[in-house]
Amino acid sequence: MSEKDFIPVSYITLKEKGVVGYSSPSNIALIKYWGKRENQIPANPSISFTLAACMTKTSVEYQKKAQKNDEFSFELFFEGEAKEEFKPKIKTFLKRIEVYLPFLKDYHLVIRTSNTFPHSSGIASSASGMSALALCFMEMERSFSAPITDEFFNRKVSFLARLGSGSACRSIEGPLVQWGETASVKGSSNLFGIKYPYKVHKVFNNFHDTILLVDKGEKQVSSTVGHELMHGHPFASQRFDQAHDHLEKLGLVLADGNLKDFISIVESEALTLHAMMMTSNPYFILMKPNTLSIINEIWKFREESKTHVCFTLDAGANVHVLYPENEKDIVFPFIKEKLISFCQNGQYICDRIGLGAKKL
Ligand code: DP6
Repeated sequence: MSEKDFIPVSYITLKEKGVVGYSSPSNIALIKYWGKRENQIPANPSISFTLAACMTKTSVEYQKKAQKNDEFSFELFFEGEAKEEFKPKIKTFLKRIEVYLPFLKDYHLVIRTSNTFPHSSGIASSASGMSALALCFMEMERSFSAPITDEFFNRKVSFLARLGSGSACRSIEGPLVQWGETASVKGSSNLFGIKYPYKVHKVFNNFHDTILLVDKGEKQVSSTVGHELMHGHPFASQRFDQAHDHLEKLGLVLADGNLKDFISIVESEALTLHAMMMTSNPYFILMKPNTLSIINEIWKFREESKTHVCFTLDAGANVHVLYPENEKDIVFPFIKEKLISFCQNGQYICDRIGLGAKKL
């Protein structure tokens, strides 16, 4: 498929008014997206677990303007309060997607959004937030159009969400989503995420992700700037090759359930992501001392307990602690006893692998 396939040919009718709503989850990448080309095309393929508890709920109320004009007209409420400071990001998103949703300037939109996780938790809300909004807009388009398949709906939502934030394109479905073209995964694309199409071993059912909130402050360097710094990065091409290699190997692991290999791929990905930050120009560090303390405690406990607990990181100091369902009775007490003390105000979120967005 190409970009052109997402430009609608015609609508049957543009409704006078209506309301649509979706909840959409966050996701945690196992193979990381870090580096992109123009128009949000990833420099390497990535794959993520869709989460279940960390979600954004969004509704869009739409009312046809008396006269279509050349302006986007919208109000934005976050957790019940008008949020002027969030509007520029939404406006940029609307501009990027307008060619694919040409009805947007026909309407006045009232967007109401809230997260199930605290806004200042350091958990990126862009994946869940942008995907929830893309779902609402696509639901509007669906009601204006001749019938479309669920597959096309999901692809176009993912395509639109990607234009808001790359990782958002992996939040529509679950439990595993790949974004980025690879020869070994049929149907994979740089334009949208697809549900991982092969059988996944049962050890990954109900996999846990306990998110340790190490630092809830504003990040010194945003993901967008971080991606930018991969241009001209001395290790960029090796890193992109490594991501392809890791993805091939992860494919085998997902099929055979070898958790030892899973751990070595996932932890290497997390540390490589941060190594890229530490070796860019300018360089920066998003981990905090407590991030490293947690990693060391996990390694020590894993050795002693012979369990398969491991960690991954996103672009921040928080640690995602991953473990299988059948080890939760050993691992969770360890987390509570040894790791929570490294969290800011003792805060953490119990999440697990999820199945994707839901209509409200
Ligand atoms: C480290 O999707 O937040 O979480 O496309 O600029 O919005 P933009 O970036 P974003 O980057 C996420 C980076 C990551 C890795 C990942 O989720 O794959």
